[in-house]
Amino acid sequence: MFEKSLFAERLTGGSGIETLMDDLGHALAEGAGNIRMLGGGNPALIPELEACWRRRMREMLDDGDRFDRMLGVYDPPKGNTRFALALAAFLQREYGWDVGAEHIGITCGGQSAFFYLFNLLAGEFADGRRKRVLLPVVPEYIGYANQGLGADFFVGAMPEIAHTGPHTFKYRVDFERLKVSEDIGAICVSRPTNPSGNVLTDGEVAHLDALAREAGVPLIIDNAYGEPFPGIVFTKIKPIWNENIILTLSLSKLGLPGTRTGIIVARPEIIRAVTSMNAIIGLANGTIGQAIVTPLIESGEIGTLVGENLRPFYQRKAQNARAWIARYFDAALDYHVHESEGALFLWLWFRGMPISAAELYERLKKRGVLVVPGHYFAIGSAEAEKHASECIRLSFAMDDAVVEDGIRILADEVAQVYAGA
Ligand SMILES: Cc1ncc(COP(=O)(O)O)c(C=O)c1O
Repeated sequence: MFEKSLFAERLTGGSGIETLMDDLGHALAEGAGNIRMLGGGNPALIPELEACWRRRMREMLDDGDRFDRMLGVYDPPKGNTRFALALAAFLQREYGWDVGAEHIGITCGGQSAFFYLFNLLAGEFADGRRKRVLLPVVPEYIGYANQGLGADFFVGAMPEIAHTGPHTFKYRVDFERLKVSEDIGAICVSRPTNPSGNVLTDGEVAHLDALAREAGVPLIIDNAYGEPFPGIVFTKIKPIWNENIILTLSLSKLGLPGTRTGIIVARPEIIRAVTSMNAIIGLANGTIGQAIVTPLIESGEIGTLVGENLRPFYQRKAQNARAWIARYFDAALDYHVHESEGALFLWLWFRGMPISAAELYERLKKRGVLVVPGHYFAIGSAEAEKHASECIRLSFAMDDAVVEDGIRILADEVAQVYAGA
């Protein structure tokens, strides 16, 4: 036994994200064939994308110097310069944003980007004040929950629930109740939202942007599933960035989670601060993801891959999953599916369910189906926790047969739960 520091207590006390990644790793490594893994956030293996990564690896191998440099030379802690120039030019071309390489910083996966950003903008300050991060739409990404190095780090706001059909709903930011108080250091939303698949409208984002400017704090938009890549967005939206917005991207959901490449687009002082933290904590970033995609960004091929392969692939998966829910669930049951506007998940709400989502998770696990119980996503809001304990998230990225079978068993188990069995 060793005596734990406060830092250690915070990061080793158990977390939803650790349980989730552990379940995911074991299910994928050992349980193939026995477990219907609807639990993780692993992206699908899409043939056209896999072919592209293989082609790029061959090209790099054939270009001896490029390959040797990728493996044998540290990048600067800010990230690879050619990559940053390529991405800045791409964002200028696509969206007309006034960004240069100085606006772009790389981290070891998007997850680390959030650890840096949250603790940069909130926590304890020299004059004794404490600041917190406001999450305007909770349920929100499970991975944020334990990242703040301080107690009571997040303030979560429960959105309004709009019923869009007999078994569908959509979250809307509750601007009537949303307050950006003095102790807020940053506002953060994932768009598309993990877990719900919600995509905030352009109007909602503009409103949040205005609130953030008024309060003099940055608006962080977590674009792990958003435009321009991986582009898993099924509604028409206009991507937004300005000097007060910190946009994060990742190569993971493009199909490269193993390369651990996170990207931050922000004003240069934020990039410089993250770079300093990155140098201390990680020295430099992985080079492989950036090396693989740089020419695809330079040529614009990345846009074609997203538009012709990746987005249609996930759109089809989402439609199938919704159709199986409609087929297998008893229409008389009080269940509601969040509108699937993006990302890899369906978010299901079992209103008035006699057991908690955590208990449902255990029952499903016994039947070989892994999902994620909703309470993990209820960060910083007791109201959202109550609601989310009637919700589960399921991923539809796995093979169709696995997703269909998982949904069939889920429907059967939920029917038994409501019947009191
Ligand atoms: C909303 C959201 N943000 C960030 C991340 C972090 O991803 P990564 O660290 O693989 O870039 C994830 C991963 O699932 C996510 O779902």
